[in-house]
Amino acid sequence: MSVISWNDDYNVNVEIIDTQHRKLLELVRNLHSAVEARIDKESLKHLLVELVEFTDTHFATEEQYMKEYEFPGYDAHCKEHKMLLGHMHDLVERVSSGKYPTFYSDYDVSNDWALVHIAQFDKGLGQFLNSKGVY
Ligand SMILES: [Fe+2]
Ligand SMILES: [Fe+2]
Repeated sequence: MSVISWNDDYNVNVEIIDTQHRKLLELVRNLHSAVEARIDKESLKHLLVELVEFTDTHFATEEQYMKEYEFPGYDAHCKEHKMLLGHMHDLVERVSSGKYPTFYSDYDVSNDWALVHIAQFDKGLGQFLNSKGVY
């Protein structure tokens, strides 16, 4: 498992989005450290729920921008957000039903999804917003 740390290459050049992305990666890192330390399931669930809730807030921020500036990739980007949140909710359910993640692969969804999503979707949104004068 690679440890994710913030790198300025991840910037999309819109301040609020970048701030939220940093926080998101911090929550992902906390979750991984918790799995590594094998904390109890209740605490793990708590961290996971915190991550899901913040992700929800973050996606809503991006979607608000997309709507406001009539971003042409709105549908595809939102579909991706919905899919990611769905995976995370599944994970919460699995932990809630007593399954402790044995392998890091159980956490793939929270490991690199953030970086992949930033590179594949949020970068383009950032460029679009910059072209509208939003930074
Ligand atoms: Fe996004
Ligand atoms: Fe994002």
